[in-house]
Amino acid sequence: MLPITELHMHLEGSFEVESVIAIAQRNGIALPSFDPEVLRAKYKFADLQEFLDLYYDNIRVMRTAEDFHDLAAAYYRRAHTAGVRHAEVFFDPQTHTGNGIALEAVLEGFTAARLEAERDFGLTGGLIACFMRDRGAADAVDTIRALLPHRDLLLGVGLDSTEVGNPSYLYREAFSIAAAEGLHRVAHAGEEGSPDYVWEALDVLGVERIDHGNRALEDPELVARLVGDRIPLTVCPLSNLALHTAPPALADHPLPAMLEAGLLVSINSDDPAYFGGYVDDNFAALDEALALSPATRELLALNAIESSFALPARKEALRAEVAAAVAL
Ligand code: HPA
Ligand code: ZN
Repeated sequence: MLPITELHMHLEGSFEVESVIAIAQRNGIALPSFDPEVLRAKYKFADLQEFLDLYYDNIRVMRTAEDFHDLAAAYYRRAHTAGVRHAEVFFDPQTHTGNGIALEAVLEGFTAARLEAERDFGLTGGLIACFMRDRGAADAVDTIRALLPHRDLLLGVGLDSTEVGNPSYLYREAFSIAAAEGLHRVAHAGEEGSPDYVWEALDVLGVERIDHGNRALEDPELVARLVGDRIPLTVCPLSNLALHTAPPALADHPLPAMLEAGLLVSINSDDPAYFGGYVDDNFAALDEALALSPATRELLALNAIESSFALPARKEALRAEVAAAVAL
């Protein structure tokens, strides 16, 4: 197994159903059932919105810094067993502040777990705060202003949640404030939305990386731009299957076409508790469906390192780990 750099993983999307139950019980919060099998029966999604409705509903049980710590610590433990060496992970501040939780509690819990993962596993990375498209532009601006006093705890900002109907250009002010602070910028775009969502993320928001971006393949000019500027796409195969944003068989996934086009793609888990697995599970499923060659696996590992915001020395160390694993 090659060392992995993970760039598209929502901490809230790593909330396993057993943990939802445990934290609901700890906080005295009602759930429709406390039987994991009953809750899991709802994990079938017609589209992105059906998934998001459940994801935001489950996260209501979170209350304290300890809850946020435990959620992230469980992800980092699992990521470590998957061979993840560097992880740039998303979280959705607005869903928690909307539930009456102080931003400080969220940041304190997530940051403590991140630092423990670095200390205990040598797993580096950072936190990317996502603006939720469906909360609108003004709320995104309020959110970046609230985050700025904690800027040192953040690697960057992102954009997620309901895509269609919430075009990327709307969030330009929040992204420009983030840029002025030297924060990295990424955006989910072209998951369900047309190539326009990707163009605007690049040209209006100035993002450095596109999350998903599958629909970019519909626009040859956009593909040429992404290839020419080496703009990374963070691809999430099991998410694409679960949300029907790729053909139903992984053997028909656009990954080979993306690689063929020269796109800088990496493999990621998105919301592992909801979509059937962590990043190692994504690689295993791809291997089974597409019989990835050793050269392709190495390319994907190196692409993810190049796509990351790790500092040059850390990128070199990660590349050396890949080279050492390839030589085995
Ligand atoms: N798309 C948009 N928003 C999200 C996703 C996703 O795949 N996962 C968590 N929030
Ligand atoms: Zn995502």
